[in-house]
Amino acid sequence: MFTVLSTVESLERLNKNTFLLKVKAPQLATAIKPGQFCNIKVSDADYPLLRRPFSVCYTDGDTVYFMFDIQGEGTRILAEKKTGDQLDILGPLGNGFNTEGDFEVAVLIGGGIGVAPFPLLIKHLEGKEILTFVGARNSEQLIKWGMRNILVATDDGSEGFNGNVIAYFQSEANKLENKKIRIFGCGPNPMLKALQKVAEKKYDCQLSIESAMACGFGICQGCPVKKSDGMGYYLVCKDGPVFNSDQIVIE
Ligand SMILES: Cc1cc2nc3c(=O)[nH]c(=O)nc-3n(C[C@H](O)[C@H](O)[C@H](O)COP(=O)(O)OP(=O)(O)OC[C@H]3O[C@@H](n4cnc5c(N)ncnc54)[C@H](O)[C@@H]3O)c2cc1C
Ligand code: FES
Repeated sequence: MFTVLSTVESLERLNKNTFLLKVKAPQLATAIKPGQFCNIKVSDADYPLLRRPFSVCYTDGDTVYFMFDIQGEGTRILAEKKTGDQLDILGPLGNGFNTEGDFEVAVLIGGGIGVAPFPLLIKHLEGKEILTFVGARNSEQLIKWGMRNILVATDDGSEGFNGNVIAYFQSEANKLENKKIRIFGCGPNPMLKALQKVAEKKYDCQLSIESAMACGFGICQGCPVKKSDGMGYYLVCKDGPVFNSDQIVIE
């Protein structure tokens, strides 16, 4: 973990509320693993004081990509960055996805901006068959950038499967019955809770979970998640954000 002063290369709008930010940060680009995140200081001013956590979306040479939705003040400020601006970034943080081991098909299931870490994960899954289930409220909010073999679900049925992305995966799962699959899930916690239930005792499944965060590296104790064995808590920033689905209780 280290701090770098990166330079904004570009900021592209992917849809109404989603942006792709590219920064030049060679040291970070070589160090990062898929599923890890960085804490970005979005402003040189004192407000917002706290850094904001963002998954690394992709890396290409010296360039690190972040994909983000505007939520509040911090992300609004980030969406105004211009080419050449400098950004103070702390990373890499967290553990990342485990892509090692014996499986044939990687099933990526993402809801909304939860798909952000998938492009880099896909890059690290070379040689595996990949299916990417992408869910959103409607077709305007779908994010397809950097995805592979996309299966789309929208809550309002405006594109692809009519319903949520977990229901879509369940409707397709029988086609994968004879294959050794590993699921990688990322999205809002209610979606991950539903996926956790589907995966229970049936699938090898890793979930990248969300939490409010402050420090991002285990000091403030601000991001606890209950262990499923009842033996206390993990810290999402340090022990996660990726957990095996049977390790944690998602509230
Ligand atoms: C490990 C990790 C990785 C993340 N990766 C990404 C990413 O790749 N792209 C991305 O767009 N976002 C990501 N997030 C969420 C992102 O950090 C928040 O959207 C951001 O901090 C909001 O800052 P803000 O100042 O704009 O909003 P704030 O003013 O802090 O909050 C505005 C509103 O957004 C809600 N909010 C704040 N944080 C979150 C959150 N973590 N999840 C859902 N709602 C939240 C608040 O409750 C509030 O209602 C990640 C979060 C974590 C913990
Ligand atoms: S955010 Fe400080 S301990 Fe996790």
